[in-house]
Amino acid sequence: MSTAEIGVIGLGTMGAALALNIADNGFDVAVWNRTAEKTQKFHEDAGDLASRITPTQTLEELVAALKEPRAIILMVPAGAAVDDQIAALRPLLGRDDMIIDAGNANFHDTNRRVREAGDLPFLGIGVSGGEEGARFGPSIMGGGKRVYWDRVAHILEAISAKHDGQPCATWMGEDGAGHFVKAVHNGIEYADMQMIAEVYGIMRDGLSMTSTAIAETFAKWDKGPLRSYLIEISGKVAAATDPATGQPMLDVIVDAAGQKGTGRWTVIEAQHLAAPIPAIEAAVVARNLSSQRDARAAGEALFGTAPRHMPHETLSLATLEQALIAGKILCYAQGFGMIEKASDAFGWALPLPAIAEVWREGCIIRSAMLDDMASALRENPDRNLMMAPKFAALLTDTHNALRQTVAQAALHGLALPALSSGLAYFDAMRTARGTANMIQGQRDFFGAHGFARMDGGEGHHGPWGS
Ligand code: 6PG
Repeated sequence: MSTAEIGVIGLGTMGAALALNIADNGFDVAVWNRTAEKTQKFHEDAGDLASRITPTQTLEELVAALKEPRAIILMVPAGAAVDDQIAALRPLLGRDDMIIDAGNANFHDTNRRVREAGDLPFLGIGVSGGEEGARFGPSIMGGGKRVYWDRVAHILEAISAKHDGQPCATWMGEDGAGHFVKAVHNGIEYADMQMIAEVYGIMRDGLSMTSTAIAETFAKWDKGPLRSYLIEISGKVAAATDPATGQPMLDVIVDAAGQKGTGRWTVIEAQHLAAPIPAIEAAVVARNLSSQRDARAAGEALFGTAPRHMPHETLSLATLEQALIAGKILCYAQGFGMIEKASDAFGWALPLPAIAEVWREGCIIRSAMLDDMASALRENPDRNLMMAPKFAALLTDTHNALRQTVAQAALHGLALPALSSGLAYFDAMRTARGTANMIQGQRDFFGAHGFARMDGGEGHHGPWGS
């Protein structure tokens, strides 16, 4: 019988959690997975929610189980699998039936899929929050035609995280706007994680703190201005013990970070947009560098181990906390700056304050600061977030701690790529007269590219001689 409100294709970790969330919110959901056993097992394990879930064995069965006009969420790996799934599904659907790609798609692919869909309904939505978010309330960033979003908004809002009762599910704009915003979310996620890892490195190698002490520090910071999901889980990661060896978990994990590519997409796009996001770029570079373990070991053998250890009075934990506060503001400011540039470049009118609001709960970068960021962007969406009064005041209070941290780390041979990029961005952004006049002189010298003069006029050339 065609009773299900919505379908879910793909019962991997995220798809299964999302389907349970939909059922848990009172919607009947039909599910299909490439391997039928997985569908069966998912249904058997669904407990009380099983009565709201229709397991199907074929795509035809899935389509037949859905109320018209149909809406089907794809939760399959980003890339070719999405195109294959759309190709298999479209011929079975009616003209009003909608496909919703909820994976981590590259927004250029979503733009193309919207084009290819033509008049057939298609949405690309970014879903953040990992497995737990998908199950109990993710943050959802929608893209595609507004009328299509409106058709399923009641379901997406119901399953999303809530902030003071307000759903963290918002339509961001046409085409791939939702997946674009999700990519920038992930760029900020990379930078936030990297900055935390850098501060962890100072505590471990500079201040010789135990994992327990590091865990306690993160737990303490999680009660202050840094309160956020990533600080919370960093404390929990630092506190965990390996059951096999009894050692701290952090000491048994290899120091090479994986990546599925979303951070890299953000950085590539930022370059196309000429949007300065140095802390995010540094974080992606740091992940790439982390995987060069043999080369790093060879470097240590060749150049010797850096001094690393700092006398205790060199940097206090309060200074480190402040450095992280400054770094965090700067990386979010860069991310929002990039969104603003894309909004103009792609003609999307991306709702910056609503983006900050949708990130307040459910997603990986959720943090106490996002509420104030939403207010600051609501006051003035065109102003760099670091210049908004609340954040300007915080930066005024904390940038010297960031400076001290970066300087001491440099003196002790501890690499802080994201924090030092954040500091360089801050200093560049408060320097009215920079040094690009030298670049312009050089360009004119070797290529007669011309320059603007301080006393007026474009296209001048220098008296360089030959
Ligand atoms: C989220 C996460 C999620 C996932 C990404 C990033 O918002 O829920 O960003 O989408 O963690 O795949 O993973 P990588 O670190 O592998 O790029």
